[in-house]
Amino acid sequence: MYKNAATRVAVLGASGYVGRELVGLLDGHADVALAFATSESESRLDGRDLIPLADAEGRWDDARLVFSCLPHGVSAPAVGRAEAAGARVVDLSADLRLSDRAVYGLTEVYRDALPEADLVANPGCYPTVAVLSVLPLARAGVIDTTRPLIIDAASGVSGAGRNPRRDLLFGEVAEDFRAYSAGNEHRHLPEITRQLAAVAGAVDVVFTPHLLPVRRGILATMHVPLARELTRVEAEAILLEAYGDEPCIRVLPGALPTLKDVIYRNRLALGVMPVKHVSRPMLTVVGAIDNLVKGAAGQAVQNMNVMCGFPETRGLAC
Ligand SMILES: NC(=O)c1ccc[n+]([C@@H]2O[C@H](COP(=O)([O-])OP(=O)(O)OC[C@H]3O[C@@H](n4cnc5c(N)ncnc54)[C@H](OP(=O)(O)O)[C@@H]3O)[C@@H](O)[C@H]2O)c1
Repeated sequence: MYKNAATRVAVLGASGYVGRELVGLLDGHADVALAFATSESESRLDGRDLIPLADAEGRWDDARLVFSCLPHGVSAPAVGRAEAAGARVVDLSADLRLSDRAVYGLTEVYRDALPEADLVANPGCYPTVAVLSVLPLARAGVIDTTRPLIIDAASGVSGAGRNPRRDLLFGEVAEDFRAYSAGNEHRHLPEITRQLAAVAGAVDVVFTPHLLPVRRGILATMHVPLARELTRVEAEAILLEAYGDEPCIRVLPGALPTLKDVIYRNRLALGVMPVKHVSRPMLTVVGAIDNLVKGAAGQAVQNMNVMCGFPETRGLAC
C-alpha cells in the first residue's frame, strides 16, 4: 500500500543490518514509500517481498531515490546502474566516500550541497563520530597540528554486518573486548583525515577501533592536542557555538556521553574534559552515536530529507 503523493524510494541490501534499519525508518516516514528492496538470501522483510539485485534492473524507473546498503565493491556498480536510470542515490557503502563525484553526506557539514546533489556518499560510522566531534575545534584553530590526534573508538558487533563470521560468534565476543586494525590500518582512516584536512590542514590521526560486545553503538574517546590551554567550559563553548542549533547533536555540559544517550536515535552526543598531568595541553573529547542510525541509516534519511526538501528530522528520533 503506497502513501499518497509519496516519493518512491528503493533500498538495495535490505536484509543487512543497515538495510533493515533503513527500511524501518522509511516505513515510519510520512513522505516516502518503498518501491522495492533487495536481498540475495531472504525473500521477505516485515511482510514485504524482497527481490534479488538482478531483478532491480527492470525496476529502477519505479524509484526516484535509491539507497544502497550493499557491501563495498558490490555497491558502486549498482549505484552506477541506478544513476544511469535517472535515480538520485544515497550510497551507504565506502565506495564513493573519497570520490569528488559524490557529495559527502555528513549532513551538518555539507547540508548546503545536498538539495542539488544527485549522488551522496553517506559517511562511515567511525568517521561520523570522529569528524563531527573534533571539527569545531579544528575550525576554531585550537588544535596543535604538529602532534597526533588519538582516536580510540569501540563499536558494537552490528558494525561488522550480518554476514556470519567465526570471530564474531557470541562465544567469541561475549565478555571480551579487543582492539582491531591497530597500527592505523583501518579503512576509515583516510575518510577521517580527508575531512579534517579540509578544515584544519594536514593532521596526523592515530585511529584504533575496538570491538565492544554489545549489539549497537560507538563510543569514541579522542585525545586532541591543543595549541593552547582550554578550560572545560571554554571547550564546551566552542562545541555549543557550532552545534547549539543542530537537532541531531547534543553537547552535554559538564558530562560525558554513554551509549544510552544515543542508542536507537539519530544523535551524536558529545562531552569534553581537559587532560591533567601532561606537559602540553590536551583535551579529551568523548562522542557517542548509534552506528546503525546516525552512523548509517538515520544519517541517510537525514540526507534524503535535505535532498528532497522535507523537514530535516522527519522520520527520525534525534
Ligand atoms: N553496519 C554498520 O554499522 C555500518 C555503518 C555505516 C556504513 N555501513 C556500510 O553499509 C553497508 C551495509 O552494511 P551492513 O552492516 O548492513 O552489511 P550486511 O549486514 O552484511 O548487509 C549487506 C547487504 O548486502 C547484500 N549483499 C551482500 N553481497 C551482495 C551481492 N554480491 N550482491 C547483492 N547483494 C549483496 C546482503 O544481502 P544478503 O544477506 O541477502 O545476501 C545484505 O542485504 C556496507 O557497505 C557497510 O560498510 C555499515
